[in-house]
Amino acid sequence: MKRGALISYPTAIVCLAFAASAEPRPLSEIVKSFHFHISPQTPFHLPAPFKMAPADESVSTDVIISDVIGKTQSIAIFSGLTRDIDPVSGRLDDASKNATVLAPDNGVMRELKRKPWEDPEDYSAFGAEAYQGPDGEDRAHKNLRRFVERHVVPESPWEEGKKVKTLDGNEIWWEDKDGQKKIQPGDVEVKSIADKVSNGEVWVIGGSLA
Ligand SMILES: *[C@@H]1O[C@H](CO)[C@@H](O)[C@H](O)[C@H]1NC(C)=O
Repeated sequence: MKRGALISYPTAIVCLAFAASAEPRPLSEIVKSFHFHISPQTPFHLPAPFKMAPADESVSTDVIISDVIGKTQSIAIFSGLTRDIDPVSGRLDDASKNATVLAPDNGVMRELKRKPWEDPEDYSAFGAEAYQGPDGEDRAHKNLRRFVERHVVPESPWEEGKKVKTLDGNEIWWEDKDGQKKIQPGDVEVKSIADKVSNGEVWVIGGSLA
């Protein structure tokens, strides 16, 4: 069964459709993005060629993170979330503010022990309905924002060993271990650098920082 190959292609299309609309999605849509739900009505066309190869060392001067983050298929779930959080999408869309985005790949996002909109304290306080209704949506959105902001470093270039606070305020750094970049604390592997553009970089990581 080549299930992966069958679902990943339309998922990228859904992702690109969100990129075009730039509207925050309701929670129900976000939940669907984790299950690769594809509506039969999804128009089947490709607005642009997929960017499959990692970026080379050159930096494109006129392109910014918000232009490219939705085009890397392997981080489609995370990049979809960045567009749901206004302060983050605004930042990535601001040519005058650099950032290093640490984007967990789709496999990491699907296997998270708890979904990025969930917080065990919400379940203790509000029970199984914690994310129902308008208050539930607000709670989910707050948790999503925290998750996404933990994966955005508000500077680029980001030097090895330099401790920085992410947009969520937690402190991280990275080190090179035998040619392998690792985010610390946690030893989270940097798998590749998907993009280098004028206001920063998008790194694909093999774990989550939440
Ligand atoms: C922002 O990133 C660009 C591209 O890497 C770099 O040339 C520039 O110096 C950076 N600006 C700041 C303020 O770090």
